[in-house]
Amino acid sequence: MTQKHPSNDPVDSGTSATPTRRSFVGGALGAAAALGMVESTPTQAQAPGAPLSETNPRDTAGMPPPGAPPPASLFRLECDVTDCEIEGKLPADLHGIFYRVGPDAQYPMNPHNIPFDGEGHVSMFRFENGRVSFRSRFARNQRYKAQAAAHKILFPMYRNPSTDDPSVQNVSRGTANTHILYWREKLLAFKEDSPPVALNPLTLETVDDYYTFDNQLESKTFTAHPKVDAVTGNMIAFGYEGRGFGSDEVNVFEYTPEGKRVWNTWIKVPYVGMLHDFAVTQKHVVFYVMPLAIDHEQMKRGGIHWSWDGTKPTYFGFMRRGGDGKEIQWVKGPTRSSTHVMGAFDDGHKIVVDVEMSEFNPFPFMPFRDGTKWDPIRGSSRITRLSVDLSHKTPKDYQIETLYANYLGALPRIDDRYLTVPYRFGFLPCQEVGSPTFGGSNCYARFDHQTRSSQVYKAPPGTTLAEACFAPKNKGAPEASGYLMGVATRMKEGGRSDLLVFDAERLGDGPIATVRLPTRVVGQIHGWWVPGEQLPRV
Ligand SMILES: [Fe+2]
Repeated sequence: MTQKHPSNDPVDSGTSATPTRRSFVGGALGAAAALGMVESTPTQAQAPGAPLSETNPRDTAGMPPPGAPPPASLFRLECDVTDCEIEGKLPADLHGIFYRVGPDAQYPMNPHNIPFDGEGHVSMFRFENGRVSFRSRFARNQRYKAQAAAHKILFPMYRNPSTDDPSVQNVSRGTANTHILYWREKLLAFKEDSPPVALNPLTLETVDDYYTFDNQLESKTFTAHPKVDAVTGNMIAFGYEGRGFGSDEVNVFEYTPEGKRVWNTWIKVPYVGMLHDFAVTQKHVVFYVMPLAIDHEQMKRGGIHWSWDGTKPTYFGFMRRGGDGKEIQWVKGPTRSSTHVMGAFDDGHKIVVDVEMSEFNPFPFMPFRDGTKWDPIRGSSRITRLSVDLSHKTPKDYQIETLYANYLGALPRIDDRYLTVPYRFGFLPCQEVGSPTFGGSNCYARFDHQTRSSQVYKAPPGTTLAEACFAPKNKGAPEASGYLMGVATRMKEGGRSDLLVFDAERLGDGPIATVRLPTRVVGQIHGWWVPGEQLPRV
């Protein structure tokens, strides 16, 4: 089904639809559902109208009482499935590997902790000659190995080193659980508080538990969202809290495909907040500072790293790519949350950055500094266009335009060959405003920014959908011409998983092939597609 969307005024029109509180819960929980969090809280998933404060007691102090639902479901199963059962017909030209990663509890987690602190569990679907094999392995990061030796959790609280076991003072806290990217014949698994962990892309064996790009990485951290330039193939990335825990300095840098660092600089942020993603265009780098801010007092009480401080503004910070960072401009804006970038480009007069955006804290498990209760309406995200007019030497504000008001969701993706340049199509796991939900995203949408229209696949009842990745038909295929794939969780089958494969130009027709797994698979935050011709030869 294709649907046209009216173009909104170039103002913040985030409340222009007329949704209900009931309709919002699933949209806000999209990312959490993808992690298996919703699976672990079925009451919440099956009763979307329930106030979140009843089912998520972590919303005030980051210190839920003992006995609260576990922060992440314990999966732990590393497995291999060869010749997966397939319904439908796999495209003959689909050749490569779809990688995915998410947090998994290595041992039962501290009940006060949050789902984002499980160890990185990587899985892959390998497509070859019309067959699919599945494999999952933990990233053997430093803390995984230390905990395995101790047979228990040694890092009990998300990004709070003061709670760590004394035996692990010199062990990296990096979980490698957030995102994954293929780089120079290595599979890099990221957690933004530490350097990546490198894995063998064919076996998922960990080959480097502290990867520093041949000692070129100055920052003590590395983002989970590096960008690969569509033109040069360079990787542009950053590390925030880059000088160490709580630091307001951000290291920004760029590597060539040959692995040589060609740009390296440092900037300072207006305040230390979760700098989860960033935007890169051909000419600019953009950071969006939002009020999920570091909370030292909370950490002294044994809580997690962040709390939502609704008194803080946002800052759209832009700087010239390749510059020394001194000219960075921080343009102040209203309190908002934006966690992920869909795409970004320069249009000659403006910097345009498309994001998922909510009015406030999108995570029900992230505490509020002032004790505010989490609200699924204000916490739901829509695809939103941010822009800054470069005709003003020092812009006083940035523009906020909601693009598709009727779709709520997080984890947007594009055809990755269009990172940093003008693009037309975007994909989003989401729910339609007003539709019943099982607690997570039940639709995949394909948005056409040129016509402001959408195509939507709606999953059958009882299914939630994870972030989807795009695989081009071939190297020279037009934008978004190829396949979209994402994991479906069948809630009525104990969370059993299927991988759905779509013709990305005909999402509304439903999957052309379904890779059936015999079991539930580990939850996912992000995934990455690698075409077969780029993989190492064995
Ligand atoms: Fe992310």
